[in-house]
Amino acid sequence: MTTIKIFDTTLRDGEQSPGCSMNLQEKIEVARQLEKLGVDMIEAGFAIVSPGDFQSVKTVAQTVKNASVVSLSRALKKDIDSSYEALKDAVSPIIHTFIATSPIHMEYKLKMKPEDVLNQAVDMVKYARSLCPNVEFSAEDASRSEPEFLYRVFEGVIKAGATCINVPDTVGYSMPDEFGALIKNIKENVRGIEKVDLSVHCHNDLGLAVANTLAAVRAGATQAECTINGIGERAGNAALEEITMAIATRQDFLGFVTNINTKQIYNSSRLISAITGVPVQPNKAVVGANAFAHEAGIHQHGIMANKKTYEIMTPESIGLPQNVIVLGKHSGKHAFEQRLKELGYVIDEQRLSESFDRFKELADRKKDVSDLDLRALVEMEQIEIPEDIELDSFVINSGNKMTSTAVIKMVYDGNRVEEAATGDGPVDAAFNAIERCIGESFVLEDYIVRSVTGGKDAQGEVVVKLSKGGKKVKGRGLSTDIVEASVKAYIDAINRYYYQKKMEG
Ligand code: KIV
Ligand code: ZN
Repeated sequence: MTTIKIFDTTLRDGEQSPGCSMNLQEKIEVARQLEKLGVDMIEAGFAIVSPGDFQSVKTVAQTVKNASVVSLSRALKKDIDSSYEALKDAVSPIIHTFIATSPIHMEYKLKMKPEDVLNQAVDMVKYARSLCPNVEFSAEDASRSEPEFLYRVFEGVIKAGATCINVPDTVGYSMPDEFGALIKNIKENVRGIEKVDLSVHCHNDLGLAVANTLAAVRAGATQAECTINGIGERAGNAALEEITMAIATRQDFLGFVTNINTKQIYNSSRLISAITGVPVQPNKAVVGANAFAHEAGIHQHGIMANKKTYEIMTPESIGLPQNVIVLGKHSGKHAFEQRLKELGYVIDEQRLSESFDRFKELADRKKDVSDLDLRALVEMEQIEIPEDIELDSFVINSGNKMTSTAVIKMVYDGNRVEEAATGDGPVDAAFNAIERCIGESFVLEDYIVRSVTGGKDAQGEVVVKLSKGGKKVKGRGLSTDIVEASVKAYIDAINRYYYQKKMEG
């Protein structure tokens, strides 16, 4: 059976989408998770874009051992040099270079004649190959390009040494039959195509990214580019979890396999959502909260009689075991570690101890600790960064006929500080007091609160998004008390702001 290679671009195309930016620490965490998931390639970024992007590609390249690491570059020498410099320590580096080939992009964006585009593509692939044994070439907006011109470009870059040809549906314009036909025609009309990988990269503007990807694979594409949760430019990219579960579930029809360890899909999806602060819609295929929920009585009846009546794949196959309550305040570290392992988390000793301390605090406040609580705890640990500010304590007074007041005590830069402030409600008062403690203010762009599980004693998870001077950061806080979760989230976001400033020098 043919193995379809999975090229993950969560850290590049995904990270490019509004509200999905990640800091270095977070990118490394995502790369590690992608390795566990078993993707074949990790596109770690676009090295030339900024010193921060360069550093992220470099660090991911040095960290990842079991997947190829890719850096995007325009078809320009300086971009290719920067990608190579960032990638050169990788076990398996790939320079990915692109140029647009559609009439509209060539005329209005590049302001170049088709012949010049062709020559530049060929020259830059040759140059990239002189540095790196693996070079992917993408014809941006391929699906809206003149097919004959596209074939010439592909033929030229294959002769120049490209090892993979990528066909992006950059603006998500194609229909599945049409995109499948394009792939078939490329296979039939481009000399040398059988020597290289044929990749597709579909955007989701019409909700067809996964359908187009599967149509392309059926027509002969050997590689699928995708992102976790389908994040990406505008309406996003094809979702990795949907492509790979379609291939796994409908092997009878499609006849392909991937190297993905599907049991790591759920954890990967949660990690991306925790890091970006972008929730997964409940009815999202494969990883949404309702993907395995059966509400209608007739469905529940069927499921009880035989799961296969309404379940085409099992929750276990994506790493989502039944949400059971197994732990409480008397549970020891061993049971805690064991349950984390069963949920697919293998963490080092230090993180385990820190997560266990948090678990004990939680178990003191909440009788039963469920899997969802555990996942939320571990995710907090996974995305921790160095803390310049630490919360000591707070007192808040609030009511419907009074002005809310907050007193916050914290350690800031090694010094104890304490400030009081009023506000429009307890959360606003607390945020004002935090800002007085540090002598800086931020714009609150977004504030999201949700409960981790059901029940009155559920943990609340708060995500705040702050901005200041063009920088945007997000923070996350978890507590059975939503005011405390809000305070923690605000402080987390400020710590991330300081961290980002330090990383950018
Ligand atoms: O959507 C697109 O065309 C891209 C290319 C750079 C591969 O992201
Ligand atoms: Zn794209």
